[in-house]
Amino acid sequence: MPMKLYIINGPNLNRLGTREPAIYGNTTMEQCLDDLRQRYGNTIEFEYYQSNVEGFLIDALQAADDAQCDGIILNAGAYTHTSIALRDCIKSLSVPVIEVHLSNVHAREEFRHHSMLSAVCKGVIAGFGMDSYRLAVEAFRK
Ligand code: DQA
Repeated sequence: MPMKLYIINGPNLNRLGTREPAIYGNTTMEQCLDDLRQRYGNTIEFEYYQSNVEGFLIDALQAADDAQCDGIILNAGAYTHTSIALRDCIKSLSVPVIEVHLSNVHAREEFRHHSMLSAVCKGVIAGFGMDSYRLAVEAFRK
């Protein structure tokens, strides 16, 4: 049976590829998913969801938990720094969540240094561009 991982992206990450390329690079999320699916073939099944809406992200996290997947890779975008609702949601899940960021949030503005989510996640990967997603997959494969 293949491992099943959900990748959930929050606000503005639908614009990857064109959004502030100096910070987030030129690769689209579709390219990233193609690479992951090619790399892991039939050993890992990836579900992908993106929303700009906080409540929809909560719905998606709960649905991933209900589906009893093996793990969730979450880039909550700016909600990382603000959302008690996402934190409460993650805390209530049985499935482990890895928080990811493309940029090194600690090397950026001070308001990005604090995450509401890190303390309720299995771990955090930040600063490796699109490779942050692959590194999170590797962490789940261990
Ligand atoms: C981000 C970092 C956040 O601070 C920012 O609001 C984003 C993207 C990242 O992937 O580097 O939207 O999560």
